[in-house]
Amino acid sequence: MPAGVNDVSDVATSRRKDAHLDLCATGDVVPAGNATLFDDVHLVHCALPELSLEELSLRASLFGKQLQAPVLITGMTGGSQRAGEVNRQLAEVAERFGVAFGVGSQRAMAERPELTSTFAVRDVAPTTVLIGNVGIVQARQLGADGVRRLMDAIGADAIAVHLNPGQELTQPEGDRDFRQGYATLSTLAKHLGDRLLVKETGCGISPAVARRLVEIGVRTVDVSGSGGTSWVRVEQLRATGVAQEVGAQFSGWGIPTAAAVASVRRVVGSKATVIASGGIRHGLDVAKALALGADVAGLALPLFRAQQQGGVAGAAQAMEVILAGLKQALLLCGARDVPTLRSQPRVLTGTLKDWLTALPPDEPANGWR
Ligand SMILES: Cc1cc2nc3c(=O)[nH]c(=O)nc-3n(C[C@H](O)[C@H](O)[C@H](O)COP(=O)(O)O)c2cc1C
Repeated sequence: MPAGVNDVSDVATSRRKDAHLDLCATGDVVPAGNATLFDDVHLVHCALPELSLEELSLRASLFGKQLQAPVLITGMTGGSQRAGEVNRQLAEVAERFGVAFGVGSQRAMAERPELTSTFAVRDVAPTTVLIGNVGIVQARQLGADGVRRLMDAIGADAIAVHLNPGQELTQPEGDRDFRQGYATLSTLAKHLGDRLLVKETGCGISPAVARRLVEIGVRTVDVSGSGGTSWVRVEQLRATGVAQEVGAQFSGWGIPTAAAVASVRRVVGSKATVIASGGIRHGLDVAKALALGADVAGLALPLFRAQQQGGVAGAAQAMEVILAGLKQALLLCGARDVPTLRSQPRVLTGTLKDWLTALPPDEPANGWR
């Protein structure tokens, strides 16, 4: 259905977004049995680092701009007054710390352009790496020009197209037809070039899918693996009947983030920027993700909850703790910067090792080759 023709669905989109925020603020959206498998990654301690904390550099780049630290507040929200406040406050924190920031799905804005202000954060984040957001099914409907308009309307540096079939299937009103995904992304890659990011939302991107994304011209991938916020669980909590029962069975579904990032890096080599997100909760997780090959690590739920509890000050403090932990990890590994950290040995154990054995670099994608 063309965007903007169904007022009932338009308002429903905004209402659903606020229900999601309520659930994520306090609900049980991180199933206890799910794990990122970062516990299976052991960085090697250096007792004589020969470094001063001040000389460490966390600098990185994303979409052609400098970051003060390789961290991204991943896309969460927009489309209601409350969501707009979340975006503005988290964007302000991103600007202060020189990390990247993504808005949530701009579907509501595509349907009701008057909601643009709830995604617009450039006045509080003039230099931040800013990333727009749209779902793959909406991107297919909007076409390349429509997607570009969403990005340009908020002055974003890039746009994330999110993949969330697990969530959609659990959502009673969700999408059921996921065909033409690669064709959609291939067209977008041709039109947007390096300004396109493809992300999951907590179920992970496999090496097979990542390799095919790179083949069609995608240059930045956020694996968003399992172990953190589960969107199947979020929808399960909203659903009744069959959707609720099936959602319960699938709330542990997905590729653990550590397995996704390590295996995706192996297949994409230097052809893509890799972002690790999904269950990253502190600076040590960020360090482990970087050591496994991520260029940038992303967090959603911890910063959202910190903002809900303490506004800008709460989110800023959470970011300070994350960056202090990351610096401490670098120093204790004797690494002056992220490239040095990545070149150092690390020990992989347990279930993560099993995943990495089962996801070899030459795994063919479904329906490909
Ligand atoms: C409140 C909330 C809203 C979200 N909305 C979106 C969204 O609109 N688009 C998207 O791509 N991802 C969305 N996500 C998913 C996150 O970007 C991220 O991929 C996922 O939550 C895993 O990270 P986490 O464990 O740090 O939360 C949302 C996450 C949260 C917590």
